[in-house]
Amino acid sequence: MTHSADPGRIAPLMGRLWAPLASVTTRWQDKTNAQIAVSIAAASIVPARPRIVIQIYKGNYSHQLIQKSLVFAVNFLRQDQLHLVKAFGFVSGRHQDKLAGVARRTGASGSPILTECWGYLDCRVVNAMDGGDMTCFLAEVLEGDVLDQGEPLWWRNARRMLPPAWAEEWEQKLAGEMAASLQRMGDINYSA
Ligand SMILES: Cc1cc2nc3c(=O)[nH]c(=O)nc-3n(C[C@H](O)[C@H](O)[C@H](O)COP(=O)(O)O)c2cc1C
Repeated sequence: MTHSADPGRIAPLMGRLWAPLASVTTRWQDKTNAQIAVSIAAASIVPARPRIVIQIYKGNYSHQLIQKSLVFAVNFLRQDQLHLVKAFGFVSGRHQDKLAGVARRTGASGSPILTECWGYLDCRVVNAMDGGDMTCFLAEVLEGDVLDQGEPLWWRNARRMLPPAWAEEWEQKLAGEMAASLQRMGDINYSA
């Protein structure tokens, strides 16, 4: 299949589909972790049965943990929590405890819930779809709350607030991940 679309024309549309910045936390056995995600969407029209879908890249340590535990929480960041984008989103938790010193409690799913955030949804995975480079998890919301007034932090605003050294670090990481995604995204297992 050929792709004739101009990426520059499409980027502003794609950018508007990202959710507010969230710290995705999970626990499997005695291991906990947090990463950043923006590919999150509501996936239920029944208020009493809220569901979301989230895309987690297979190279992430969080992917390993979520695939085993089938639980996670999305903790949407406040406007003053830009530092967590770097702490959770620029490095992997494979060899370090990214949640050390971060205020949290354990949610209904067993996942860590950040006690300092804009609001959270604690979730249990009910199904998953292979996206090649990532897995798309459908999850039911077990509990959630809004903890802060005002707006959460959006990437389109946050990226303009990044110090130049952080922006450079992110661009380098992203370039590596885009190359890895391009290699893997066609490699989809269509089995149920
Ligand atoms: C602004 C931003 C948005 C991101 N969005 C996602 C996302 O939607 N899904 C995802 O899997 N990773 C996303 N990431 C990348 C992960 O947060 C990042 O690779 C992280 O280091 C993975 O950590 P882990 O290996 O400890 O799981 C995003 C990172 C940033 C900075």
